[in-house]
Amino acid sequence: MTEIHVLNGPNLNLLGQREPEIYGATTLADIEATLTAEAKAHGVRGRLRQTNSEGGLVDHIHDARNEAAGVIINPAAYTHTSVAVHDALKMLEVPIIELHLSNPHAREAFRHHSYVSPVATGIIAGFGAAGYTHALDAMLRLVGKTT
Ligand code: DQA
Repeated sequence: MTEIHVLNGPNLNLLGQREPEIYGATTLADIEATLTAEAKAHGVRGRLRQTNSEGGLVDHIHDARNEAAGVIINPAAYTHTSVAVHDALKMLEVPIIELHLSNPHAREAFRHHSYVSPVATGIIAGFGAAGYTHALDAMLRLVGKTT
């Protein structure tokens, strides 16, 4: 079955508790349940993963090289700091969607630069947890799995 990997970086395990005025009340478990059901309805396996470490995120990207038809990634703070994440994504030969719950460009200046955007197929930001659904819809089109 076609797999779409949805990779999440540091602090996103605390969604729902973490700065809810910015990131909302939805937990990552809620997002996972919605996403896997939506993917399944299109005959695709949605696999959500989260890690708090930079090396862990790189490992998850490496796993996607052999397993995923597309990658949706919210690299969280590593968006703005990680050449390693940039380099790992550059090796992928499948579509990549960079995703953020908030709109980093409307926030502090240190969030305005992304190491991920130059290697992403497209970017979705500012729609809260619904952004995961928007990203999945976009990815299903990219991999030809819309029905
Ligand atoms: C984030 C935005 C980043 O700037 C921040 O470091 C995060 C979450 C978002 O989803 O809005 O951890 O990626």
